[in-house]
Amino acid sequence: MSFRKDFYWGGATCANQLEGAWQEGGKGIACPDLCTGGNVSVHKRITPELEKETFYPSHDAVDHYHRYKEDIALFAEMGFKMYRFSIAWTRIFPNGDDEKPNEEGLKFYENIIDECLKYNIEPLVTISHYEVPFNLTKKWNSWVDRRTIDCYLNYCEAIFKRYKGKVKYWLTFNEINSATTKMGAFLNQGILNEIKTMDFHDQVDIPNHRFQGLHHMFVASALATKMAHEISSDYQIGCMQIFIPYYSLTCNPEDELATLQESQITNWFCGDVQCRGKYPSYVWRYFKKNNIEININDEDLEILENGTADFYTFSYYMSSCQTADPTIESGKGNLLGGVPNPNLKASDWGWQIDPIGLRIALNEIYDRYQLPIYVVENGLGAYDEISEDGKIHDEYRIDYLRKHIEQMEEATEDGVDLRGYTTWGCIDIVSASTGELAKRYGFIFVERYDDGTGDFSRHRKDSFYWYKKVIETNGVEL
Ligand code: BG6
Repeated sequence: MSFRKDFYWGGATCANQLEGAWQEGGKGIACPDLCTGGNVSVHKRITPELEKETFYPSHDAVDHYHRYKEDIALFAEMGFKMYRFSIAWTRIFPNGDDEKPNEEGLKFYENIIDECLKYNIEPLVTISHYEVPFNLTKKWNSWVDRRTIDCYLNYCEAIFKRYKGKVKYWLTFNEINSATTKMGAFLNQGILNEIKTMDFHDQVDIPNHRFQGLHHMFVASALATKMAHEISSDYQIGCMQIFIPYYSLTCNPEDELATLQESQITNWFCGDVQCRGKYPSYVWRYFKKNNIEININDEDLEILENGTADFYTFSYYMSSCQTADPTIESGKGNLLGGVPNPNLKASDWGWQIDPIGLRIALNEIYDRYQLPIYVVENGLGAYDEISEDGKIHDEYRIDYLRKHIEQMEEATEDGVDLRGYTTWGCIDIVSASTGELAKRYGFIFVERYDDGTGDFSRHRKDSFYWYKKVIETNGVEL
């Protein structure tokens, strides 16, 4: 068996999809607080003015804010070694640009961290996970404006100083590369080019804004990395990408080229900047072809070189195919696009299940950067039900996870320096893409439904007991 003895088994969540209490403890309004519920066929909407009768899933989410002790105790019962969660920027700086941090917010996360440490669970903290303060969006369109860098750094300074000695591992931005696609603009960057009510998929896309915003995020991430190292020599700062291996739909060289080019921009560009400290050469032609012109000054380039990531992390749910043939329709999937692969089955949300793709991703990433790697999201979103016997028999989830863990083991045998695995939505939470509670990932079922009913009670699914065994045996018993 090849997992390291100190392998970090665990789970992952993020604040806006988990906590609820959207206006408690001095919290300000974050972009996701303005998103309505949706489902696999009805898109969620963005409503800058809240509607009275509408259900907003993040407002109560699964009420972790009031139940974090119970939840962390359940994670500990499974034997978690690591717990990845995010800090809501708006709990610390409610408007994003406040002068001083909000003590109640700082205290809340201190309690969470202490609770983890009580059980010897290592916290892995995402600093910004799809929850930009809406005030920054209204004021200057969020990351499009350089001033957001300073706001972010103030936020980082407050949390780096407060949690020194308790937290070691940090991620600057969740899935930073989702900003290379239209869907990442509001979700990831808080960029909204028209402030009005709209279907989530009908946002006006201005690629220049996305890529200028991304540049500012790169600079912010590099400066935060440098700052963290100055505050504590123990701090390890990682980048976090959404990674979707692309296969060429055919062996036609034109398809191969399309695959290479798509992968360069969506999978590699951001990792190259954050791990190598430089914009990769291929990006300039892409910018030219797409009329993207962004401001990058010489000082920024130096900052990028001096603030590279200490480790690489990514989310993995699916692979996809690319083709040069524009008549072939793209499939449904995570935030990055692609066409369906005829060899793979998909989840009920059209995400194509491909455990071997994870081994391929791990090999390619390690080969490119030679940094320690963590898989910080992976899992199956599925419709779960409480059976007549009162239990939740989610053998489909166990099957999915088992096959992915097997491939991680293969990758480790291949020589990849894999350090940890935190499955996504270790407790049921709100879906980021559709805004629904029915798409469940957890080992723990939460009684909360899309019509706003449910008492938030927690129930262990079959996968809970299975994952406990996996951790206990360091991946031997799958
Ligand atoms: C990742 C995000 O893209 O995928 C998470 O980092 C998200 O926030 C996860 O929840 C799964 O996506 P979804 O849409 O099924 O919630």
